[in-house]
Amino acid sequence: MIEKINNLIQEVETAVISTKEQVEDIRIKWLSKKGEVSALFDDFKNVPNELKKEVGQKLNELKTKAQEKINTLKEQFVEIKNSTDSKNIDLTIPATPLLQNGSRHPLSLVKNQIIEIFNRIGFTVSDGREIEDDWHNFSALNTPENHPARDMQDTFYVNLNPEMVLRTQTSSVQVHIMQYQKPPIRTISPGRVYRNEAISARAHCQFHQVEGLYIDEKVSFADLKQTLLYFSKEMFGADTKIRLRPSYFPFTEPSAEMDISCTICKGSGCNVCKHTGWVEILGCGMVDPQVLTNCGIDAAKYTGFAFGMGIERITMLKYQIKDLRLFFENDIRFLKQFTSA
Ligand code: DAH
Repeated sequence: MIEKINNLIQEVETAVISTKEQVEDIRIKWLSKKGEVSALFDDFKNVPNELKKEVGQKLNELKTKAQEKINTLKEQFVEIKNSTDSKNIDLTIPATPLLQNGSRHPLSLVKNQIIEIFNRIGFTVSDGREIEDDWHNFSALNTPENHPARDMQDTFYVNLNPEMVLRTQTSSVQVHIMQYQKPPIRTISPGRVYRNEAISARAHCQFHQVEGLYIDEKVSFADLKQTLLYFSKEMFGADTKIRLRPSYFPFTEPSAEMDISCTICKGSGCNVCKHTGWVEILGCGMVDPQVLTNCGIDAAKYTGFAFGMGIERITMLKYQIKDLRLFFENDIRFLKQFTSA
């Protein structure tokens, strides 16, 4: 009898089915009134008393296992049935777009394009910090305390000890680079800057700049001019002209501001260029030898040029955007226009 029970337990454990009908068949075979398990229970009365305990336990085990097996086979069949339902899905129905694709912010697009252009002529990218000490943002760049040039940029001060500033220009990054890198140095530093200005269509308290720096032996103003011409043509088109006007920055000597021929009217005069045919896009110059010395570079051996431009300004010109505030409002109607840019 024990052997019979064990055989049936093994049959229960290894049984497999492929249709719903087979589940019912084996339920009848094992567990119906005339089934094999019931027959064994009927035989139980013939088991000698001394074996009753052992056989009884085995029989109960068999009955539980058979019941559990039937239940799992039924569940398995329900799953098979559900998965065959998927055959009825119409795969040709167009999908409903639940998630819309995002797009890059126009400032990121232009920043990446600037990086790409300068990469092609050997400029690396370096990062700086937005909370800066006074020395890196001003003093090392020939703008000591009480220097009138500090008035060119209204500064946010951070109440720390020692006092810090939110950097007003990415020129601060060139100081870090010159302190820690030996020439030749050829790098651009994109990043966010802050100035305490009233927010309007033409000014904001935060905006983005890209600083450029090239230091080596015998770097000349002609190198600066050619680099900027290359950049302007790549950025605004091959027919773009540039002009350099003398200017003043504390950390460059000589200094210049660079205009490009108006991208809208191509130089004939329009509202964007205020009928001059030219629009200013950046400041530049030869790094003042005193700045090289301040940063530990031998000014007798090395010369260099630097330039700095506003990413918002370039983006506004490129896409004809008239209000600076649009860049910071995250209005989806504005951002959506750059999905395919
Ligand atoms: N830092 C200047 C500004 O924010 C821009 C600038 C001008 C950067 C001349 C330069 C430079 O590197 O040579 O107005």
